[in-house]
Amino acid sequence: MRLSDEALDVLFREARTHNGWLDAPVTEEMLGELYDVLKWGPTSANGNPARFVFIRTREGKERLRPALAPGNVDKTMSAPVTVIVAYDLLFFEKLTKLFPHNTKMREMFASAPQLVESTAKRNSSLQGAYLILAARALGLDCGPMSGFDNAKVDREFFGAGKERAGCEQEFFPEGHVRSNFLINVGFGDRAKLYPRAARLDFSEACLLL
Ligand SMILES: Cc1cc2nc3c(=O)[nH]c(=O)nc-3n(C[C@H](O)[C@H](O)[C@H](O)COP(=O)(O)O)c2cc1C
Repeated sequence: MRLSDEALDVLFREARTHNGWLDAPVTEEMLGELYDVLKWGPTSANGNPARFVFIRTREGKERLRPALAPGNVDKTMSAPVTVIVAYDLLFFEKLTKLFPHNTKMREMFASAPQLVESTAKRNSSLQGAYLILAARALGLDCGPMSGFDNAKVDREFFGAGKERAGCEQEFFPEGHVRSNFLINVGFGDRAKLYPRAARLDFSEACLLL
């Protein structure tokens, strides 16, 4: 089924990367719905390597602040939610649930750390993109960011197996979860948008063979 022009506008053509946020909350229910949509996007061997930390509190934002590039501080501190899109280097331990029809997959990843790393990075990036599109489909806006210190975030949020309130401890297995990129989520203030920049034309970016 082809989506309407209006839907394509919402997902792509009119959607923008936001830097300022309206004073409207993003609830836990909205985040649950967001995950329940984005989780259906495809990943290699259905591995679901992405892990998402939804930072909603002032305290959580303050833990993130020292890792942010200066230009990303204000928009992140004022966003209703900042998501750390991360990946679990032990994602393959869940393949018995996620890929039950091929039991050899787990062994393949367990013996190939480079394959684990590239697969986790590639697919968590895809899952972050699914999050952006799912958010737009649900009426939310996003501002993705790679301008931050990954090592600092990994130490602060994924280090040393400290128990985190509200999360199962096994969600943060020591040293096995790494940050990929951040996404601010909220209801964007269109008055604070930068001018829309061009995209490459088909002839610049695509080759028909
Ligand atoms: C993975 C990724 C990382 C980005 N990192 C930053 C960043 O650190 N700081 C920032 O201000 N914008 C960042 N951006 C925003 C881009 O510059 C923006 O999405 C792009 O210019 C398109 O803007 P538009 O969606 O409004 O057309 C990032 C975008 C992506 C997808």
